[in-house]
Amino acid sequence: MQALPQSLLNSVERSRENSRLKRLTKLQADCSRLGMFDASQLHAALDDPNVAEHYQQWAKRIDELRITALAGGVNRGDRRALFHLIAAFKPDEVLEIGTHIGASTVYLASALASRPGAAAPTGRLTTVDIIDVNDPAAKPWLRSGSPCSPRDLLARLELDWAVEFIAQPSLTYLSGAERKFDLIFLDGDHSAATVYQEVPKALRCLNPGGLILLHDYFPNGKPLWSNKLVRLGPWLALNRLAEEGCELRVVPFGELPWETKLGSSRSSLALISSGQSPVA
Ligand SMILES: C[S@@+](CC[C@H](N)C(=O)[O-])C[C@H]1O[C@@H](n2cnc3c(N)ncnc32)[C@H](O)[C@@H]1O
Repeated sequence: MQALPQSLLNSVERSRENSRLKRLTKLQADCSRLGMFDASQLHAALDDPNVAEHYQQWAKRIDELRITALAGGVNRGDRRALFHLIAAFKPDEVLEIGTHIGASTVYLASALASRPGAAAPTGRLTTVDIIDVNDPAAKPWLRSGSPCSPRDLLARLELDWAVEFIAQPSLTYLSGAERKFDLIFLDGDHSAATVYQEVPKALRCLNPGGLILLHDYFPNGKPLWSNKLVRLGPWLALNRLAEEGCELRVVPFGELPWETKLGSSRSSLALISSGQSPVA
Protein backbone atom coordinates (compact mmCIF):
# COMPACT_ATOMS: atom_id res chain seq x y z
CA MET A 1 0.00 0.00 0.00
CA GLN A 2 1.30 3.47 -0.89
CA ALA A 3 1.86 5.94 1.97
CA LEU A 4 -0.27 9.09 1.88
CA PRO A 5 1.64 12.28 1.04
CA GLN A 6 2.65 14.30 4.10
CA SER A 7 0.87 17.40 2.73
CA LEU A 8 -2.44 15.48 2.78
CA LEU A 9 -1.80 14.24 6.33
CA ASN A 10 -1.03 17.84 7.35
CA SER A 11 -4.37 19.09 5.96
CA VAL A 12 -6.26 16.33 7.76
CA GLU A 13 -4.49 17.29 11.00
CA ARG A 14 -5.27 20.98 10.42
CA SER A 15 -9.01 20.41 10.08
CA ARG A 16 -9.13 18.02 13.05
CA GLU A 17 -7.16 20.43 15.27
CA ASN A 18 -9.25 23.42 14.15
CA SER A 19 -12.56 21.72 14.80
CA ARG A 20 -11.53 20.66 18.35
CA LEU A 21 -10.16 24.13 19.08
CA LYS A 22 -13.34 25.86 17.86
CA ARG A 23 -15.42 23.86 20.33
CA LEU A 24 -13.72 25.58 23.28
CA THR A 25 -15.21 28.78 24.63
CA LYS A 26 -12.99 31.85 24.86
CA LEU A 27 -10.59 31.84 27.81
CA GLN A 28 -9.24 34.83 29.70
CA ALA A 29 -5.47 35.05 29.46
CA ASP A 30 -3.70 37.58 31.67
CA CYS A 31 -0.32 38.33 30.11
CA SER A 32 0.69 40.94 32.69
CA ARG A 33 3.30 38.71 34.36
CA LEU A 34 5.06 37.85 31.09
CA GLY A 35 8.64 39.06 30.80
CA MET A 36 10.42 40.25 27.70
CA PHE A 37 13.01 38.20 25.81
CA ASP A 38 13.54 39.19 22.20
CA ALA A 39 15.26 37.50 19.27
CA SER A 40 18.53 39.42 19.77
CA GLN A 41 18.73 38.33 23.44
CA LEU A 42 17.97 34.81 22.35
CA HIS A 43 20.73 34.76 19.75
CA ALA A 44 23.19 36.28 22.19
CA ALA A 45 22.31 33.46 24.61
CA LEU A 46 22.85 30.80 21.96
CA ASP A 47 26.18 32.30 20.86
CA ASP A 48 27.61 32.83 24.36
CA PRO A 49 31.09 31.19 24.40
CA ASN A 50 31.21 30.89 28.21
CA VAL A 51 27.98 28.92 28.21
CA ALA A 52 29.27 26.81 25.30
CA GLU A 53 32.30 25.83 27.37
CA HIS A 54 30.18 25.00 30.40
CA TYR A 55 27.78 23.03 28.18
CA GLN A 56 30.63 20.91 26.77
CA GLN A 57 31.57 19.80 30.28
CA TRP A 58 28.02 18.66 30.97
CA ALA A 59 27.49 17.18 27.49
CA LYS A 60 30.46 14.85 28.04
CA ARG A 61 28.87 13.48 31.22
CA ILE A 62 25.36 13.38 29.78
CA ASP A 63 26.49 11.56 26.62
CA GLU A 64 27.66 8.68 28.81
CA LEU A 65 24.00 8.12 29.75
CA ARG A 66 23.24 7.20 26.13
CA ILE A 67 19.83 8.91 26.02
CA THR A 68 18.18 7.61 22.88
CA ALA A 69 17.49 10.04 20.04
CA LEU A 70 14.71 7.84 18.68
CA ALA A 71 12.00 7.99 21.32
CA GLY A 72 10.22 11.30 20.87
CA GLY A 73 12.38 13.18 23.37
CA VAL A 74 13.59 16.68 22.55
CA ASN A 75 16.44 16.39 20.00
CA ARG A 76 20.02 16.95 21.16
CA GLY A 77 20.37 20.32 19.41
CA ASP A 78 17.22 21.62 21.09
CA ARG A 79 18.42 20.27 24.44
CA ARG A 80 21.56 22.33 24.03
CA ALA A 81 19.39 25.37 23.26
CA LEU A 82 17.49 24.76 26.52
CA PHE A 83 20.82 24.71 28.38
CA HIS A 84 21.88 28.05 26.82
CA LEU A 85 18.49 29.65 27.51
CA ILE A 86 18.62 28.69 31.19
CA ALA A 87 22.17 29.98 31.50
CA ALA A 88 21.18 33.34 29.98
CA PHE A 89 17.73 33.87 31.51
CA LYS A 90 18.79 32.55 34.95
CA PRO A 91 15.43 31.30 36.25
CA ASP A 92 15.29 30.00 39.82
CA GLU A 93 12.15 27.91 39.39
CA VAL A 94 11.41 26.03 36.18
CA LEU A 95 8.39 23.91 35.33
CA GLU A 96 8.48 21.33 32.55
CA ILE A 97 5.26 19.80 31.22
CA GLY A 98 6.02 16.47 29.50
CA THR A 99 8.87 14.55 31.16
CA HIS A 100 8.72 11.41 28.97
CA ILE A 101 12.21 9.76 29.01
CA GLY A 102 13.73 12.83 30.67
CA ALA A 103 15.85 13.92 27.69
CA SER A 104 15.08 17.62 28.13
CA THR A 105 14.78 17.22 31.92
CA VAL A 106 18.44 16.29 32.25
CA TYR A 107 19.65 19.35 30.31
CA LEU A 108 17.30 21.73 32.10
CA ALA A 109 18.43 20.36 35.48
CA SER A 110 22.14 20.49 34.66
CA ALA A 111 21.90 24.11 33.46
CA LEU A 112 19.77 25.10 36.43
CA ALA A 113 21.87 23.44 39.07
CA SER A 114 25.22 24.79 37.97
CA ARG A 115 25.38 28.25 36.47
CA PRO A 116 28.92 29.23 35.45
CA GLY A 117 30.51 31.28 38.21
CA ALA A 118 27.76 30.57 40.78
CA ALA A 119 29.17 29.45 44.12
CA ALA A 120 26.14 27.35 45.08
CA PRO A 121 23.40 25.38 43.29
CA THR A 122 21.08 27.87 41.73
CA GLY A 123 17.69 26.54 40.66
CA ARG A 124 15.02 23.88 40.88
CA LEU A 125 13.00 22.01 38.29
CA THR A 126 9.49 20.59 38.63
CA THR A 127 8.59 18.17 35.85
CA VAL A 128 5.06 16.93 35.19
CA ASP A 129 3.83 14.03 33.08
CA ILE A 130 0.40 12.46 32.73
CA ILE A 131 2.02 9.09 33.53
CA ASP A 132 4.41 8.10 36.32
CA VAL A 133 7.58 8.21 34.26
CA ASN A 134 9.58 6.52 37.06
CA ASP A 135 7.09 3.72 37.76
CA PRO A 136 9.31 0.81 38.87
CA ALA A 137 6.67 -1.78 37.85
CA ALA A 138 5.65 -0.50 34.40
CA LYS A 139 9.16 0.84 33.53
CA PRO A 140 7.79 3.11 30.75
CA TRP A 141 11.32 4.23 29.76
CA LEU A 142 12.10 0.71 28.43
CA ARG A 143 9.27 0.97 25.88
CA SER A 144 11.02 4.08 24.56
CA GLY A 145 14.42 2.40 24.37
CA SER A 146 15.90 4.40 27.23
CA PRO A 147 18.29 2.52 29.53
CA CYS A 148 16.93 3.87 32.82
CA SER A 149 14.24 6.01 34.37
CA PRO A 150 14.44 9.82 34.28
CA ARG A 151 15.04 9.78 38.06
CA ASP A 152 17.99 7.39 37.61
CA LEU A 153 19.43 9.52 34.80
CA LEU A 154 19.44 12.46 37.19
CA ALA A 155 20.86 10.40 40.04
CA ARG A 156 23.77 9.33 37.83
CA LEU A 157 24.55 13.01 37.32
CA GLU A 158 24.02 13.72 41.04
CA LEU A 159 21.17 16.07 40.10
CA ASP A 160 18.21 14.19 41.57
CA TRP A 161 18.01 16.67 44.47
CA ALA A 162 17.21 19.47 41.98
CA VAL A 163 14.14 17.87 40.38
CA GLU A 164 10.64 17.07 41.59
CA PHE A 165 8.58 14.61 39.54
CA ILE A 166 4.78 14.93 39.41
CA ALA A 167 2.42 12.44 37.73
CA GLN A 168 -0.65 14.49 36.76
CA PRO A 169 -2.34 15.88 33.65
CA SER A 170 -0.90 19.32 32.88
CA LEU A 171 -4.23 21.14 33.24
CA THR A 172 -4.81 19.64 36.70
CA TYR A 173 -1.32 20.55 37.86
CA LEU A 174 -1.45 24.09 36.43
CA SER A 175 -4.90 24.70 37.98
CA GLY A 176 -3.76 23.75 41.48
CA ALA A 177 -0.08 24.73 41.57
CA GLU A 178 0.82 26.83 44.59
CA ARG A 179 4.38 27.45 43.44
CA LYS A 180 5.24 30.15 40.90
CA PHE A 181 7.80 29.67 38.13
CA ASP A 182 10.21 31.85 36.16
CA LEU A 183 10.11 29.61 33.11
CA ILE A 184 7.44 27.11 32.04
CA PHE A 185 8.29 24.66 29.24
CA LEU A 186 5.20 23.20 27.53
CA ASP A 187 6.14 19.88 25.90
CA GLY A 188 3.24 17.60 26.81
CA ASP A 189 0.11 17.09 24.72
CA HIS A 190 0.77 19.37 21.75
CA SER A 191 -2.82 19.54 20.54
CA ALA A 192 -4.26 23.00 19.85
CA ALA A 193 -7.10 22.46 22.34
CA THR A 194 -4.76 21.52 25.18
CA VAL A 195 -2.15 24.22 24.49
CA TYR A 196 -4.98 26.82 24.26
CA GLN A 197 -5.98 25.84 27.81
CA GLU A 198 -2.43 25.35 29.14
CA VAL A 199 -1.15 28.82 28.22
CA PRO A 200 -3.67 30.90 30.28
CA LYS A 201 -3.12 28.59 33.27
CA ALA A 202 0.66 28.73 32.83
CA LEU A 203 0.47 32.55 32.68
CA ARG A 204 -1.16 32.50 36.13
CA CYS A 205 1.69 30.31 37.46
CA LEU A 206 4.45 32.69 36.34
CA ASN A 207 6.50 34.91 38.59
CA PRO A 208 6.53 38.51 37.29
CA GLY A 209 8.94 38.68 34.35
CA GLY A 210 8.58 34.96 33.62
CA LEU A 211 8.50 33.27 30.22
CA ILE A 212 6.73 30.33 28.60
CA LEU A 213 8.62 28.08 26.22
CA LEU A 214 6.92 25.96 23.56
CA HIS A 215 8.14 22.88 21.72
CA ASP A 216 6.77 21.77 18.34
CA TYR A 217 5.96 25.34 17.32
CA PHE A 218 5.84 25.57 13.50
CA PRO A 219 5.78 29.28 12.51
CA ASN A 220 2.96 30.07 10.05
CA GLY A 221 1.93 26.42 10.24
CA LYS A 222 4.68 25.52 7.73
CA PRO A 223 7.05 22.52 7.79
CA LEU A 224 10.50 23.07 9.33
CA TRP A 225 12.28 20.00 7.99
CA SER A 226 12.69 17.92 4.86
CA ASN A 227 10.15 15.36 6.14
CA LYS A 228 7.44 18.06 5.55
CA LEU A 229 5.75 17.11 8.83
CA VAL A 230 3.90 19.87 10.69
CA ARG A 231 2.54 19.80 14.24
CA LEU A 232 -0.07 22.53 14.15
CA GLY A 233 -1.36 22.50 17.72
CA PRO A 234 0.88 25.06 19.47
CA TRP A 235 0.79 27.47 16.51
CA LEU A 236 -3.02 27.31 16.15
CA ALA A 237 -3.47 27.80 19.90
CA LEU A 238 -1.16 30.84 20.02
CA ASN A 239 -2.85 32.34 16.97
CA ARG A 240 -6.22 32.11 18.64
CA LEU A 241 -4.91 33.65 21.88
CA ALA A 242 -3.36 36.55 19.91
CA GLU A 243 -6.56 37.06 17.87
CA GLU A 244 -8.50 37.23 21.12
CA GLY A 245 -6.36 40.13 22.30
CA CYS A 246 -3.74 38.40 24.43
CA GLU A 247 -0.72 40.71 24.53
CA LEU A 248 2.02 38.27 23.76
CA ARG A 249 4.74 37.81 21.21
CA VAL A 250 6.05 34.46 20.00
CA VAL A 251 9.81 34.35 19.43
CA PRO A 252 10.71 31.24 17.41
CA PHE A 253 14.28 29.97 17.92
CA GLY A 254 14.68 29.54 14.13
CA GLU A 255 18.16 28.42 13.03
CA LEU A 256 20.47 27.36 15.85
CA PRO A 257 24.28 27.61 15.65
CA TRP A 258 24.47 23.77 15.71
CA GLU A 259 22.68 20.77 14.22
CA THR A 260 19.23 19.78 15.43
CA LYS A 261 17.63 17.11 13.24
CA LEU A 262 17.42 15.74 9.70
CA GLY A 263 20.72 17.40 8.79
CA SER A 264 19.40 20.87 9.61
CA SER A 265 19.90 23.37 12.39
CA ARG A 266 16.22 24.36 12.61
CA SER A 267 14.44 24.32 15.91
CA SER A 268 10.75 24.11 16.79
CA LEU A 269 11.36 25.82 20.14
CA ALA A 270 9.67 29.20 20.62
CA LEU A 271 9.39 31.58 23.55
CA ILE A 272 6.24 33.39 24.58
CA SER A 273 7.34 36.85 25.61
CA SER A 274 5.41 40.03 26.36
CA GLY A 275 4.64 42.42 23.53
CA GLN A 276 2.15 42.83 20.78
CA SER A 277 2.92 41.57 17.32
CA PRO A 278 1.33 39.21 14.86
CA VAL A 279 2.02 35.59 15.75
CA ALA A 280 4.26 34.16 13.01
C1 LIG B 1 7.03 14.73 23.47
S1 LIG B 1 7.00 13.92 25.01
C2 LIG B 1 8.05 14.96 25.98
C3 LIG B 1 9.51 14.77 25.69
C4 LIG B 1 10.40 15.14 26.85
N1 LIG B 1 10.36 16.56 27.12
C5 LIG B 1 11.82 14.67 26.56
O1 LIG B 1 12.62 15.46 26.04
O2 LIG B 1 12.10 13.50 26.85
C6 LIG B 1 5.41 14.30 25.60
C7 LIG B 1 5.13 13.79 27.01
O3 LIG B 1 3.98 14.46 27.49
C8 LIG B 1 3.17 13.59 28.22
N2 LIG B 1 1.79 14.10 28.18
C9 LIG B 1 0.88 13.97 27.19
N3 LIG B 1 -0.25 14.60 27.51
C10 LIG B 1 -0.04 15.18 28.72
C11 LIG B 1 -0.84 15.96 29.59
N4 LIG B 1 -2.11 16.30 29.27
N5 LIG B 1 -0.30 16.35 30.75
C12 LIG B 1 0.96 16.02 31.11
N6 LIG B 1 1.77 15.27 30.31
C13 LIG B 1 1.27 14.86 29.14
C14 LIG B 1 3.34 12.24 27.54
O4 LIG B 1 3.06 11.20 28.46
C15 LIG B 1 4.81 12.30 27.10
O5 LIG B 1 5.62 11.67 28.05
